[in-house]
Amino acid sequence: MVKFTKNAPIAMVTAYDAPTARLAESAKIDILLVGDSVGPNMLGYDSVHQVTVTDICHHVSAVRRGAPNSHIMADLPWEAVADNSPTKAAHAAAAIIAAGADSVKIEVEHGRIDLLTETIAKGIPVCAHVGYTPQSPELAVTVQGKDFDRACEIIELARIAEDAGSFMLLMELVPAELAKLITDKSELPTIGIGAGPFCTGQVQVIYDITGFSSRIFRHAKLFADSASPMKAAFTDYRNEVHAGTFPTMENCSAMNPDLFNQVSAWSKINE
Ligand code: KIV
Repeated sequence: MVKFTKNAPIAMVTAYDAPTARLAESAKIDILLVGDSVGPNMLGYDSVHQVTVTDICHHVSAVRRGAPNSHIMADLPWEAVADNSPTKAAHAAAAIIAAGADSVKIEVEHGRIDLLTETIAKGIPVCAHVGYTPQSPELAVTVQGKDFDRACEIIELARIAEDAGSFMLLMELVPAELAKLITDKSELPTIGIGAGPFCTGQVQVIYDITGFSSRIFRHAKLFADSASPMKAAFTDYRNEVHAGTFPTMENCSAMNPDLFNQVSAWSKINE
């Protein structure tokens, strides 16, 4: 049963692996998102379009092992939605839930509402993603809804997705005023990324707030620069291995001298 409402703030962050999920759960993050950003961010893919249902299931399982008590949401990747088959989408969503997710997120553009409806009909909680939707290659990576037609289209998509039974709306890269209007009109909790402070909650890509991304995006904030100390640790480790100062006998276990003499003698006999 999904417990989120409009009345309590929601902090959501992407997680792709068990150790990160464990940390996020211990920090009481409300929702962990196994986004299709796992492709470019973790798997070295060029685009989210390469992410498969198997990839998402693999990472959902890892996140579930790290965060047994958290709500895990996962993206329905391009592979599951590309040919606009509601049956295929709902089947993929069921596999993702079986892998350990509590809900799925579906990007709502270009008549994908049928995919959403069929998935919800199977009893799977769906978060509808509107605004900038990275799976839509025709959209420029820029704020959506800055002109009248597109703003009205996003409002309409959000309304249709709500009427279809979504439990949550996610808005990416839309003007703050538009996100507020949609939030005010909707009964659903809304989650923003680059959508201003008036949404019920926020989502961020883990690497954008912890210093692993190549740059700091306007919609993000560097809450910690974890990459610099990590790089320093790698450099120190490498230098110590090369200098022979790590490991020492303190980093391993020694053998009982009598036993060692016996083993050594046996080894000589068996040369
Ligand atoms: O895949 C992802 O990380 C996302 C967020 C940017 C919302 O969809």
